[in-house]
Parts: sequence; structure tokens; C-alpha cells
Amino acid sequence: MSLVDELARSRIHFFTGKGGVGKSTVVAAAAIALAAQGKRPLIVELGHRATMSAILGAPSIGYEPREVAPGVRSMNLEPEAALREYVASRVKIPGFARFALASEPLRRFFEAAPAVNEVVTLAKLDRLEREQRGGRPKHDPILVDLDATGHALMFFELPRVFSGIARSGPLAALLDSFSALLRDERRAKLHVVTLPMELPVNETLELCEHLRPRGELSVGKVVVNRTPPAPPGDTEHPDPAERRLRERFSSRRERAAREIARLERAGLDLVLLPEVPATHDVQTRLEVLAASMEGAR
Ligand SMILES: Nc1ncnc2c1ncn2[C@@H]1O[C@H](COP(=O)(O)OP(=O)(O)OP(=O)(O)O)[C@@H](O)[C@H]1O
Ligand SMILES: [Mg+2]
Repeated sequence: MSLVDELARSRIHFFTGKGGVGKSTVVAAAAIALAAQGKRPLIVELGHRATMSAILGAPSIGYEPREVAPGVRSMNLEPEAALREYVASRVKIPGFARFALASEPLRRFFEAAPAVNEVVTLAKLDRLEREQRGGRPKHDPILVDLDATGHALMFFELPRVFSGIARSGPLAALLDSFSALLRDERRAKLHVVTLPMELPVNETLELCEHLRPRGELSVGKVVVNRTPPAPPGDTEHPDPAERRLRERFSSRRERAAREIARLERAGLDLVLLPEVPATHDVQTRLEVLAASMEGAR
């Protein structure tokens, strides 16, 4: 199944992977591909390292979802805004959240609570997943541009970490609801973005091995980004410079093929995306990647 088809099947997708492998670029291109198929994708990036507006060439992106490309909406899930919304949803006194969070000591109290950023982020994702418009999900699917692997794992461990502490009350209800979301593969999937190089592949294999036996969150695709293209030039009569260039290309492709084979041997469901030449502008790069996500693999 192509990446776009897989993304169209579940409601919320998390993307993780080593730093700089192209997670945000892949999320942006996937949203464009989904919108082209008539879906209503929402890109969610997490507050502190916002790059989506630069990637999409859109003006700055805030907490309220807004259209950033035809049919694509995006939001920045800033923990402070999520905390305000969370407090407001729990305490039904108009203006209380603004008042409480404007008070420095109270704010410090909230921020010192364990994993408060992650909890309010989960609460917001949970709410976004339930939002409806005209009897249909308002955002479909939701693509979450997670951080590099370590932080992403902590996120998914939250329900377990809290299970001994919060057994009842609103936090327990939220964590139960989030665990149920993660366990249901029609609703949630995790995709890992990687490069066809030794270290990112090692990390990807470790992550998938760590997640697989837990059966809590299903790993969807492993996206192998920036696979090297075929060598350019005249194959019949290459001149010496061309021959050297072709040799360099070929050895890069051989190395990439070895790494891809390691991922295949681990039985992972791969999607290969091409390296897009640096001469392409950002918009064209996203379009090339979006188009290659509709391919067979
Ligand atoms: N398929 C591709 N072809 C060419 N360049 C790419 C491709 N994918 C990503 N890039 C480039 O690689 C760089 C890193 O991409 P991106 O910011 O998406 O990575 P990231 O994994 O989100 O990084 P971070 O871990 O910092 O969030 C960017 O300059 C991006 O334009
Ligand atoms: Mg990123």
C-alpha cells in the first residue's frame, strides 16, 4: 500500500526519526498529497521547534489551525496555549484559565507538575481527533511532526508512567482515552523517517525492535528519505568526467541499497522517497515528494 493510502486509513499519524532526516519535510509533502486526494489533513507541529512555516513557505503558524497550502491546515501546538485550554476545559469559570495562568506563582505551580507539557499536548491531540464538522471528522487525518526518537518515546510511555499515580479523575480519564487511541490501529499509527545510511538505519531498527513487542502503538511505514537517484549523463559514451561522476553516484547507490536491505530483512514496511536536487525550489521539492508518495512503494 502506498504511503498516502496508508495515511488516509487512520485518523492520527505520528512521525518520528533521528534529527535532520526529513521528518517535517515528509509530513508537509504527505499533507499535500492527502489534500490532492480530497482529504482534510491537519499538520500539528510541537511548539518549541517550529519549522513548518519555513518548509511550506507560509506565514507564521499559531495555535489556531489555518490553511497553509490548498486543502492543508497546520497548527503549532504550543504547550502554554494547550495548558490554558486544558485548564479552561476543566474549570468551568469564565476567564479562570487566563486569570490563573497570568499569576506567576500559579503558572509556576502548573508548569512544575510532572510532564505537564506532554499531558496538555495529549489532551489537545485527543480533542482534535474528536472534533467534528458536518457529522464528519474535522481534521482527517492529523499528522503530528514529533521530535527525534527519544522525546517521541517518552510521549508514548506517558500512560504507563502515570498508571500508578493517576488511577481516577480527569488525568486518568485522559490517559485511558489516549492509550485507547494509540492501541487502535484504525485510529493511530507511528511512522519512522530515516535515511539509507548506517547510523539512521541502526537507530530505526532499534526503535522498531523496542516498539514491536509492546503491541501498544502500531508501527506503520518506515520512510527511507533521500534515496540517491540514478546516475545522470550519457550511459553509452561517457566522457572521463562523466564516468567519475557516475562512479560516485553508483557507490552511493550501492551503500544505500545495502542499508535498505537491512531494513527489509527486519520485515519493515518501507516507502522509498528520492533525494530531490538542491536546485529545486521548496515548492517543487514538496510536489516531487508528494507525487512519489502515491507510487506503489
Ligand atoms: N527528499 C529530500 N531531498 C532533498 N532534501 C531533503 C529531502 N528531505 C529533506 N530534505 C532537506 O533536509 C533538511 C532537513 O529536513 P527536515 O527539516 O524536514 O528534517 P527534520 O527531520 O524535520 O529535522 P529536525 O530533526 O531538525 O526536526 C532540510 O534542508 C530539507 O530541505
Ligand atoms: Mg523537523
